[in-house]
Formats: sequence, structure tokens, C-alpha cells
Amino acid sequence: MGNVEITRKYFDRNIEYFRKVKYLKQERLLNHIASLLESKLEGMVLDIGSGGKIPYAARNIKFFVSADISFNSLNSLKMHLKPFIFSALNTDARFLPFKKNCFNFLVMSNLVHHLCGDSLKSSQANIKSVFAESFRVLDKSGRIFIIEPLVVNGAENIQKIMFPATKRLIGLIGKPMVYFTSSQRLADYVKEAGFEIVNVSRLDYKDALISPWLSGLDIPIKFTPFSFYLLEGLKHAR
Ligand SMILES: C[S@@+](CC[C@H](N)C(=O)[O-])C[C@H]1O[C@@H](n2cnc3c(N)ncnc32)[C@H](O)[C@@H]1O
Repeated sequence: MGNVEITRKYFDRNIEYFRKVKYLKQERLLNHIASLLESKLEGMVLDIGSGGKIPYAARNIKFFVSADISFNSLNSLKMHLKPFIFSALNTDARFLPFKKNCFNFLVMSNLVHHLCGDSLKSSQANIKSVFAESFRVLDKSGRIFIIEPLVVNGAENIQKIMFPATKRLIGLIGKPMVYFTSSQRLADYVKEAGFEIVNVSRLDYKDALISPWLSGLDIPIKFTPFSFYLLEGLKHAR
């Protein structure tokens, strides 16, 4: 079974754990993200890799689509997000089943590190496909918001070298492989897809906990090479 399939099954199996435990641990961060996004999102909005929770309110959103590879996560979202008018779509973000130019905004939160394939090369190809698809489905002045834990350059380089060994080790305990990019690398992917980067902000939550490879092993982010970032990309300069 490939890593994308292992990832799908992992989220299908663990969505209730995420709902009960993980989302609560990141509550302050999620609220902060909500406050940053709520005033910006309007019109047609697509959230890919939404999982079982949308932290922001609908306010100016005309129509909202939640897309996720995990069917159970979408089901959980449907049960908990009643006041929100939305459509849930069970799909792989590498192949979005939408026509071009149909969304005004796209949100991608905590997804990129889960786009890991069976090798470094296929992981990079997966990330590129998702950004190419994001670019295609956004309208001419569409914006993408990416929220992601990113690592410093040195830590990304170590992950590259350790990729095969880490994947084997993580596979032994039945977890999907994840791969964290640096802010520079993520910006390169976003630009390569055709976006102009209009904002990069560090979401400075020093009390946030992160469990990079093993959920349950929570480490305060200030003791790690990780930081949460928000990147904003514009499809075409106005
Ligand atoms: C860590 S959760 C993020 C949930 C939420 N966006 C957040 O920020 O808390 C990652 C989500 O990405 C989804 N995912 C992973 N690979 C995907 C893919 N190739 N296409 C679509 N969704 C994917 C998983 O099923 C999971 O729901």
C-alpha cells in the first residue's frame, strides 16, 4: 500500500481522536487562524485537506466546499458543522474534480506535510500537483492561504537524508510518513505553480504543541525546529 493510501486510512481511523484531543490542544492556534482568515474569505471558497474541523466562520462566504481524501473526516465535519452551508467532497487534492477558475479563495491548513509519497521524489511531485491544481481551480484574482508547520533549512536537509530510514521506522508502527518543508522550499513550490506570494507571516504560538511524527508525543513548538506559518499567494497581480 502506498503512503497516500496509508494516510487516507490513518485519518479515516483516527478522526474522532483528532476531534477529541488534537484539535483541543491546538485551540488557541486554530482560533488565531480563524481571526486571520474570517475577514478575508468571501464568495466561493474551497478548503482542501479540511479534516473534521473548519476553525473559521462563514460570514461572507457564498458557497463553501470542503475537500478531503478521508471520507470519515468529511462525515465528522458534516455532523459538527450544521449551521455552515457547504458541500463535502471526498477527493484526492492532487486531482481536483472542478473546472478551472471556479473558486475565489482556497485554504490549505496542515495538509502539505501529509502529501508525502513513497520517496522524496514522489512527495515533491505530489506537492507540485496539489499547487498546480490549486492554481487551476482559482479564478483570475484568486488567493490561496496555506497554514503549515515549517522547518528551518537544516532540518529539511536532514529529513531528505533520513527519508528512507524514517519511512521504514514509521511504517513499523503503522503511521503514515510525513515530510516537512522549509519556508523557502514551500515558497518555491507556490511560485512555481504560478502564484505571486503576497504575505508570509509566522504564527508565533510558543505554547503550541506539535507531534511531528508520532501523534501523542507532544512537544512544545519552541523546543523544536518548527514554526507555524501563513503564506498568502495571489493568482495574478491585480
Ligand atoms: C492534519 S489534517 C488537517 C486538518 C485541518 N485542515 C487542520 O488544519 O486542522 C490533514 C488532512 O489532510 C487530508 N489529506 C491528506 N492527504 C490528502 C490528499 N492527497 N488529498 C486530500 N486530502 C488529504 C487528511 O485526510 C486530513 O484530513
